[in-house]
Amino acid sequence: MNASTGTYLVTGGAGFIGTNFIRHTLKLRPQWRIVCLDALTYAGNPGNLADLTKLYPGRYRFVHGSILDEALLRVIIDEETLDGVIHFAAESHVDRSILAPQAFIETNVNGTCQLLKVFQSGWEQNGKPENFRFVHVSTDEVYGTLGDTGYFTEASPYAPNSPYSASKAASDHFVRAWHHTYGLPAIVTNCSNNYGPYQFPEKLIPLMILNILEERELPVYGDGANIRDWLYVLDHCEALLTVLERGNPGETYLIGGGAEKRNLEIVHLLCDLLDRLLTRSGAQGSRGLIRFVTDRPGHDYRYAIDATKIRNELGWQPRFRFEGAIEDTVAWYLAHMDWVASIRSGEYRQWIETNYNNR
Ligand code: NAD
Ligand code: TYD
Repeated sequence: MNASTGTYLVTGGAGFIGTNFIRHTLKLRPQWRIVCLDALTYAGNPGNLADLTKLYPGRYRFVHGSILDEALLRVIIDEETLDGVIHFAAESHVDRSILAPQAFIETNVNGTCQLLKVFQSGWEQNGKPENFRFVHVSTDEVYGTLGDTGYFTEASPYAPNSPYSASKAASDHFVRAWHHTYGLPAIVTNCSNNYGPYQFPEKLIPLMILNILEERELPVYGDGANIRDWLYVLDHCEALLTVLERGNPGETYLIGGGAEKRNLEIVHLLCDLLDRLLTRSGAQGSRGLIRFVTDRPGHDYRYAIDATKIRNELGWQPRFRFEGAIEDTVAWYLAHMDWVASIRSGEYRQWIETNYNNR
């Protein structure tokens, strides 16, 4: 595939990973043009990308709309000569999926199927260009939970345990089926937990950073022993570029950070890091804010990825070390409290009440 030029549609580009992907890609691929399609749900922030039209004249376009809107998708296909789609748009928070699963079915399952249907017909109308790619960005959570040993691989059986992971699993199956049945050059990636700039503060790391800053309680689910494999978001973005440019249609690639940490370890680390920066110590130390709260129902114990396939076949491996990247992430939040204020809407405050009061 020609990596030097191209126009790509990024769905869900105003969210956490999509924002990082668009900003990083426009820098790394100076000949590329990106069209971002985002419905701007509570998790999407157009301000994340507002400077790009000026920074990169002619190379960035924002379309406000849903992946469920067939007519809009057809207009985009008519207006743009697309070389591929990188599909991030989703409802992405496990706790929200437990309290209100319907939106996950709508966006993650029906939305992905809508995209597949429309891009399949667009691809056929354009004479089935060989270089076209549909990259579906999914999660390691589709494989369920691990015990203390072992790793997920591309051969692991699907065993989703939350409405979120079940909806992502369903979408992965549809992507696979569209490739197998209709030949659409689609690729699925399953990634571990990301952290970094622009992550919405409903997820563990930014939630804890902000609660520590504001001296609020730090709600650790259960005993905090659950393990996640943390990946810096720019490593994920580079893995996705690698898959887009060198991945084989019909394949699945697992992407992991090789940085397994227990939740409590993460919270302790953030407390200590911020205490140093804020010169808090003794009785004022932030570890005192930790509160063990009622566990998440069906809480998966451990996720861990064996990323041998993407390393051996495509030559990607993470560049960032956890210890440095987590410090950069904390520094980003401290330097962007205006961003934090802008995304903490009434909806956000209501979510915090719904999820944490009476827990
Ligand atoms: P996010 O919740 O921060 O962003 C999701 C974006 O999708 C938002 O901008 C939202 O407005 C948009 N969106 C939602 N519904 C839409 C619709 N119907 N049409 C168009 N846009 C819509 O999510 P994220 O953390 O950036 O995750 C992006 C993708 O990566 C998701 O598919 C998620 O499943 C996957 N993933 C995330 C992680 C992680 O750690 N965050 C790990 C592995 C995989
Ligand atoms: P989260 O960031 O929601 O990602 P995921 O559920 O997709 O892994 O949660 C990461 C881990 O942190 C998970 O084991 C649940 C835990 N957690 C807490 O202990 N407290 C919290 O307030 C949140 C949001 C998460």
